[in-house]
Amino acid sequence: MRIIRAKDYEEMSGLAADIIAEVIKEKPDCVLGLATGSTPLGVYEKLAAKYRAGELSFSRVATVNLDEYKGMGREDENSYFRFMRDNFFSKVDIRPENTHIPDGAEEEEKACRDYDRVLERVGRIDLQLLGIGHDGHIGFNEPAEAFSKTTHCVRLTEETAEANSRFFSGREEVPSYAYTMGVGSILSAKKVLMVAAGADKARILKKAAEGPVTPAVPASILQFHPDFTLVADAAALAELRG
Ligand code: GLP
Repeated sequence: MRIIRAKDYEEMSGLAADIIAEVIKEKPDCVLGLATGSTPLGVYEKLAAKYRAGELSFSRVATVNLDEYKGMGREDENSYFRFMRDNFFSKVDIRPENTHIPDGAEEEEKACRDYDRVLERVGRIDLQLLGIGHDGHIGFNEPAEAFSKTTHCVRLTEETAEANSRFFSGREEVPSYAYTMGVGSILSAKKVLMVAAGADKARILKKAAEGPVTPAVPASILQFHPDFTLVADAAALAELRG
């Protein structure tokens, strides 16, 4: 596990974008695993800036997103489909048909099965970008009794629903369930890159990076990944030993 210490959110975003840009330059038809949440927004901005500057093209890149709220249609303003389109895909030259997100409007079994087929078809993820939830969730893999393998439906914890309610008009608007890529699929990515910022992530980052590997802290499994990089700002790293 490699930890890259950034002084602030801006620097974290730039460093993470540089790592992703390297992967694309080395392999223009790479598969990127992408994440939502507010933390990666700066990374997407930096990547879009590289595209505008003519440094980077996404024309052959394929993407697979981690998750989507159950029951949410693509055009719903709170769908992760919209989030990705508005914050990233519309700002670069990626082909919409090369971008993939679980279908929130589809019924549970079919949505998950179809998404696993998509993952199989696009092939091994070259780099998976991740944020981290306050309870250690990655994608929407909440603390559980065991690590999940493939795409599945999860019930959001109260803490996650509360944290994500800032994107909605109120807590009661937050869906109770989501479809998420399994921890197994995340782990099979060649590289995993996590971004984290802010003092509110310090406690969980310490647990995830230095605590026991346990499904009670899903992100802790990344300690076992052979190519895992954490890029975080000073506030988020405040409780780590090293
Ligand atoms: C959501 C997403 C996660 C993300 C988490 C943290 O629950 N499903 O992928 O990591 O939020 O979000 P933020 O970066 O806004 O703290």
